[in-house]
Amino acid sequence: MNYQWYPGHMTKAFRQMKEDIKLIDLVIELLDARIPVSSKNPDIDKIAGNKPRVVLLNKSDMADKRVNRLWIEYFKEKSFYASETDSRSGDGLKTLNALVKEACSEKLERDKRRGILNRPLRAMVVGIPNVGKSTFINSFAKKAVAKTGNKPGVTKGKQWIRLNKTLELLDTPGILWPKFEDEKVGEHLALTGSINDDILDMGELSAGLVDFLLKNYPDALQKRYGIEINEDTAYQKYDIIEKIGNIKSIYCKGGEIDYNRVYNMVLDDFRSGRLGRISLETPEELK
Ligand code: G4P
Repeated sequence: MNYQWYPGHMTKAFRQMKEDIKLIDLVIELLDARIPVSSKNPDIDKIAGNKPRVVLLNKSDMADKRVNRLWIEYFKEKSFYASETDSRSGDGLKTLNALVKEACSEKLERDKRRGILNRPLRAMVVGIPNVGKSTFINSFAKKAVAKTGNKPGVTKGKQWIRLNKTLELLDTPGILWPKFEDEKVGEHLALTGSINDDILDMGELSAGLVDFLLKNYPDALQKRYGIEINEDTAYQKYDIIEKIGNIKSIYCKGGEIDYNRVYNMVLDDFRSGRLGRISLETPEELK
């Protein structure tokens, strides 16, 4: 399937970010905790240079707790300042000010030596569409300063947000990059809702998800749909899809299974968290 989606407004936004990076002290990069590799825009690495980097695994409430911990270790080893956040509930945001200060300690020291006091740190907040940037900024600022919406790729203008005396945020539009090197990256971005559904084959996407769940989270299928899965069952993805159709009575008028509705339901259950905490990527796979 072709997952490539890089509309013109993203090219424009990236060009602007390249300019704005000169104005900031650090980059706060929001990743989707379920897909930290696929949600990490390689173009940001190219423009960030030596600026301190804070990586936040957002939507951590939707990802596997054990895997979240592994990812935090992974990013720390790679010299990022890393933390988990659930921007919807605000979990993990309290410690962020301290993490930002730690990331910028060299600059703060330098300012102090030069007698510069009370100059706020300026952070650029970046992330792919739908990663939760607006929700994060709203929660962090504890007031409605950014509009949330569930359509990926909605453009927003440049926006400085003064959080307190010590920190200012520059919001940026959610962007992807022109070419995914690996088809898995596109698939994972599509599953988590960062690529416009209109260009996707939802059947193929959903069947791929069922295959992944069968191999990695069979308990989730069992719990949500009541399908008994054990070592002896040897189900394939389409057996599971058929079973879901029958168990949930998702039929067309003629009485046969309405596969499109089953596909959409499974995707929706995953995206809304009804299938439980699921991580599509683990650092173990990178070894
Ligand atoms: P964006 O600016 O990066 O495009 O994303 P936005 O904040 O609009 O968030 C996209 C969706 O992700 C929203 O859900 C939002 O509530 C949800 N979200 C953001 N952060 C988190 C998080 O840490 N955990 C969870 N579970 N969800 C998060 P929505 O269904 O599109 O909208 P709504 O139902 O919240 O109105």
